[in-house]
Amino acid sequence: MKPGTSEAARRDLAYHLHPTTDLAGIQRDGPLVISGGDGVYVVDDAGNRYLEGMAGLWCAGLGFSERRLAEAAYRQMKELPFYHAFSGKVAAVSTELAERMVAIAPAGLSKVFFANSGSEANDSAVKMVWYYNNALGRPDKKKVISRKRAYHGVTIAAASLTGLPFAHSDFDVPTARFLHTETPHHWRGAKAGESEEAYAARLADELERLILFEGADTVAAFIAEPVMGAGGVIVPPATYFEQVQRVLAKHDVLMIADEVICGFGRTGNMFGSQTYGIRPDILTCAKMMTSGYQPMSAMLVSPTIYGVLEEQSRKLGVFGHGFTYSGHPVPAAVALETLRIYEERRLVEHVREISPLLQDGLKALADHPLVGEARGVGLIGGLELVRDKSTKASFDAKAAVGAQVVRNAQRRGLIVRVLPSDVIAVCPPLVIEAHEIRALLDGVAGALDDTWAWVRENSLV
Ligand SMILES: Cc1ncc(COP(=O)(O)O)c(C=O)c1O
Repeated sequence: MKPGTSEAARRDLAYHLHPTTDLAGIQRDGPLVISGGDGVYVVDDAGNRYLEGMAGLWCAGLGFSERRLAEAAYRQMKELPFYHAFSGKVAAVSTELAERMVAIAPAGLSKVFFANSGSEANDSAVKMVWYYNNALGRPDKKKVISRKRAYHGVTIAAASLTGLPFAHSDFDVPTARFLHTETPHHWRGAKAGESEEAYAARLADELERLILFEGADTVAAFIAEPVMGAGGVIVPPATYFEQVQRVLAKHDVLMIADEVICGFGRTGNMFGSQTYGIRPDILTCAKMMTSGYQPMSAMLVSPTIYGVLEEQSRKLGVFGHGFTYSGHPVPAAVALETLRIYEERRLVEHVREISPLLQDGLKALADHPLVGEARGVGLIGGLELVRDKSTKASFDAKAAVGAQVVRNAQRRGLIVRVLPSDVIAVCPPLVIEAHEIRALLDGVAGALDDTWAWVRENSLV
């Protein structure tokens, strides 16, 4: 049976409003209905098996069949299926997770707030920054600077932080107080002969000019993903965060690290902040925190910020921010078990050991006539497709060449994703083994060859 044509697919089309989807396209092509998982593979309702080269949505670090997580959830459901953390109460397992999170977090973060999604964690971070500056008597210091092509989620503040047109168009975001500075993409943005360091210095200067133009007394925070994910897998140029943080410190602007994709080993350290020398005042994370098996996110803050929140709460009588499911015991139990497994199986070390195979394989694909740049770090990578390698000219977006690569990969039993600007992303489960990385690379190479033939047949080059 052709994927997308089953009875389940027909029912889905009738009733389901899909997130982040071409709603007209899905009516034409049907959804791929996934009904099972096995290690780094998933299986559709027609029995076709796919190597999940995106770990779902950059999240299933332990793959798709880790029984220990199912058992941890079931145990917790039997013991205490729900409790909350409002007004002086807490489930014991949430405390245990908070303690564990602080132990593994980058230095300088001492308290954890729990939420349910990356977007909620980032919305919470924005609210913390505003509350903090109100508490300090700086009511004008509220603007948050993000970057073009950043992805920070889709709730109102998170969508405002996001720097991608698809998340803004017709949704009346970004709202006021959100600004976007340049994307740190050396391959596209650097001048001829400009080193990564010189390019990073230029971007830091640009950021400083923006802060001065707006007035440093109105700029509260800067937010960045260590490696930009959904905006195109953009790895920062050498010294970028060092130079940016120098500017932030000079103007008393807080650093928020969005570790929703990079957190929990993706870049070869527990957090991307450690890979790139980021010293965050606030850190947000989600996704691989539970291997994606349960919805949960977290925001960690520095002792300085926490001290101000506590003092202000004393004045107001309450810290008025929280979700019913903040620190929910079931995802908390699953997160704790996930972190235990990461440690027992030395998965961060595994990423460091195995990632050269993925990165070297992607680099080798830079020779393909469709590929302009291959980039990545750890177990995340991207191939940017171009129409002309010498000028770096992209294909017309309407040609949807990247989507064709995704379709061809799927036909070959591999799931990858196309991001804006025709970037093909790979971000497999952390548990992937060498032979599976080779299969992933073979699938991508084959999909590129199929697409190259299609591009020539359709006179797109
Ligand atoms: C870096 C980053 N931040 C935030 C988010 C939003 O997370 P969620 O979809 O859980 O709201 C994402 C989602 O992909 C992300 O990649």
